[in-house]
Amino acid sequence: MHFQWYPGHMTKAKRMMQENMKLIDLVIELVDARVPVSSRNPDLDELGKNKARLILLNKSDLAEERMNDVWAAYFKEKGYSVVKLNAKKGGGIKSIQGVIQEACKEKIERDRKRGILNRPVRAMVVGIPNVGKSTFINALAGKACAKTGNKPGVTKGKQWIRLNKNVELLDTPGILWPKFEDQTVGLRLAWIGSIKDEILNTEELAAELTGFLVNSYPDVLKEKYEIEESADGFENLRGIAESRHCLVKGNELDTEKAAKLLLDDFRNGRLGRITLETPENN
Ligand code: G4P
Repeated sequence: MHFQWYPGHMTKAKRMMQENMKLIDLVIELVDARVPVSSRNPDLDELGKNKARLILLNKSDLAEERMNDVWAAYFKEKGYSVVKLNAKKGGGIKSIQGVIQEACKEKIERDRKRGILNRPVRAMVVGIPNVGKSTFINALAGKACAKTGNKPGVTKGKQWIRLNKNVELLDTPGILWPKFEDQTVGLRLAWIGSIKDEILNTEELAAELTGFLVNSYPDVLKEKYEIEESADGFENLRGIAESRHCLVKGNELDTEKAAKLLLDDFRNGRLGRITLETPENN
């Protein structure tokens, strides 16, 4: 399978992020809890070095809870602050303010020693497209958010959202593109819907997904679609097409329709909470 790649956008977005990094104390990085490593862009560690770091495991409602804890421990071990989040429903949002203060305590202490009191922490939200950045900013800022104007000299041309007296958030999130030269990473990102389906072979993608599910989440397909699970992904698609009456003229099985149905069910959590990678298999 072949994945497309947009170096032009990436270069521009990266340059802008480099500029924004100079203005902030804390990088708030959203990752998708179903693919916490594949949904990260490794460039961020370089771009955000010397900054306090907070990782949000977003869409945690779609990932397996046990694995959310495993991943949270994994990133904490590496020195990041971590929060499990459901930006859509607001789960985890309340704890964010406290975690931000904790993540930036060294900076706050440095300020205090220099006699600077009450300078708010400045933060920027970053992540790959569709990971939930806008949803998160809206949930965190809420209705009461006041956008601060341009501050000459310091934040020229930038809009900041003042969350409270302690935290200001850069209005526009930083977009990072995932690195999907690696086919496994590409597959996982396609399964969660991060890569446009039009550029992919839907049936192949869905057949591969059934392969993963049969191995890692046995009986999920069996229970959902009442099929016999097979090691052959296309056989699973035929089974789904049959049980869901996906037919084309002449009563032929419409495996393309079955593939779309499966991907849609998976992406919307209708197959249950599923995590696609573990610290061992990424
Ligand atoms: P972005 O700025 O990073 O590009 O992402 P955005 O906030 O636009 O969110 C992308 C999609 O992910 C949205 O769905 C949003 O509702 C959904 N989303 C964000 N956070 C969560 C979460 O924690 N859990 C779940 N389940 N979904 C989340 P959409 O399909 O574009 O719209 P809609 O389904 O909300 O109507």
